[in-house]
Amino acid sequence: ASARAAEICRLAPVIPVLVIDDLAHARPLAEALVAGGLPVLEVTLRTPVALDAIRAMAAVPGGVVGAGTLLTPEDVAAAKEAGAQFGVSPGATDRLLDAAEARGLPMLPGAATASEVMTLLERGYTTQKFFPAEAVGGAPALRSLASPLPQVSFCPTGGITLANAPTYLSLPNTLCVGGSWVAPKDRMQAGDWAAIETLAREAASLPR
Ligand code: 3PG
Repeated sequence: ASARAAEICRLAPVIPVLVIDDLAHARPLAEALVAGGLPVLEVTLRTPVALDAIRAMAAVPGGVVGAGTLLTPEDVAAAKEAGAQFGVSPGATDRLLDAAEARGLPMLPGAATASEVMTLLERGYTTQKFFPAEAVGGAPALRSLASPLPQVSFCPTGGITLANAPTYLSLPNTLCVGGSWVAPKDRMQAGDWAAIETLAREAASLPR
């Protein structure tokens, strides 16, 4: 269930987690992030324009646009219809995963504990989101999962910054990290796409 999700996670060290309030920001934001070297974009379904933003961003050459904060089968259907190429969820339920599998939407489902990781692994998810990464113990907690569960790889998300990302990216069970720091709200509101491109370039050059 995870082959495409793993491929996507290997495209860049960082997946920007995007909260888009203004539809007009979608295209220039995607262009800036892709130009800066971050092709994989997660648009969270937390704002009224999120689905239209996915539609607009999916047209940007070089981008791989997914939908985040998927909670329900209805979210999966809407994300797929908007053109999302993958989905991300903070946790996982059977209803959510059933819907994603039925619609062929590759998923990066969230887990925070060994039991949650094992439950996803039983369904074949060998690539998972580790969430909320910093709050549940950070890189030491994630590193600890590698010993008993070496077959599972992660995209940790939640509280990750340019400063703490390298520690995660050095772990054997981390493919990439997710974070909102590359698209700060104030830079988006100012239309400062050059600043966001610079943040993307810094993030894209993080070693793995
Ligand atoms: C989220 O769900 O908002 C992501 O985990 C991003 O978290 P961050 O804002 O701490 O990077």
